[in-house]
Amino acid sequence: MIDFHTHIIPDIDDGSHTVDESIEMLKMCYAQGMDTVILSSHFRLGEHRIKSYLKDRQNRLDMIRDALTDEERKIIPKIILGCEIEYHSSINSWDYLGELAIKGTNYVMTEMPFIPWSKEVVNNIDKIALNTQFTPILPHIDRYFHTFTKESYIRHYFDMPEVLLQMNAIYINNYNNIQFYKPLFDNGIIDIIGSDCHGTEWRPPDLGRSVKMLREVCGQELVDRIDRTGREIIKNAIYEEM
Ligand SMILES: [Fe+2]
Repeated sequence: MIDFHTHIIPDIDDGSHTVDESIEMLKMCYAQGMDTVILSSHFRLGEHRIKSYLKDRQNRLDMIRDALTDEERKIIPKIILGCEIEYHSSINSWDYLGELAIKGTNYVMTEMPFIPWSKEVVNNIDKIALNTQFTPILPHIDRYFHTFTKESYIRHYFDMPEVLLQMNAIYINNYNNIQFYKPLFDNGIIDIIGSDCHGTEWRPPDLGRSVKMLREVCGQELVDRIDRTGREIIKNAIYEEM
């Protein structure tokens, strides 16, 4: 299984704090059956500049690589660089959007606002989806059901194949929560899943438990479909040599 949403790169956002913690998180992902992880550190236009962000991301990944022992290399997932791009009203016109895509692909993880979405927000994401070569992935779509965003704006993406939806593990790792979201899985609305892990203790990698729960409640076929969709997304991705 692929974990599409992680904050494992150290000290670049509110995720892992140290290289050791990053390595521990990678091992936790692997132990739970994740063969591949997307490192989707936050990119926020207000905080970051594209060139320094990309350089910083690479340097910090290099620090992980340098610290890994040969034994550890055998017990971590394959790594693909990505980015959780905070929505900005100008996002659809950034000429560097491709540099923030899941590396080697045209998929961009666009984090939607946590305040109620406006029509402009929806229009701008649609412009990326319909007028550019990029396919937006909306991370943790589950979260927006609790932000007073008009449900019609969220549902707009349920029937739009040009935009993919990712759900976080925390909403599907126990029996009660998963009942609520089961129809979204059964109807093929949720495309991929991720842990959105931030550390070894606070918001740790826990996608394994959710996959198990999904299998129990929605069936193996559903788990296989999620996995197939993920493999299709990363079929041209560039893996990091670790
Ligand atoms: Fe995240």
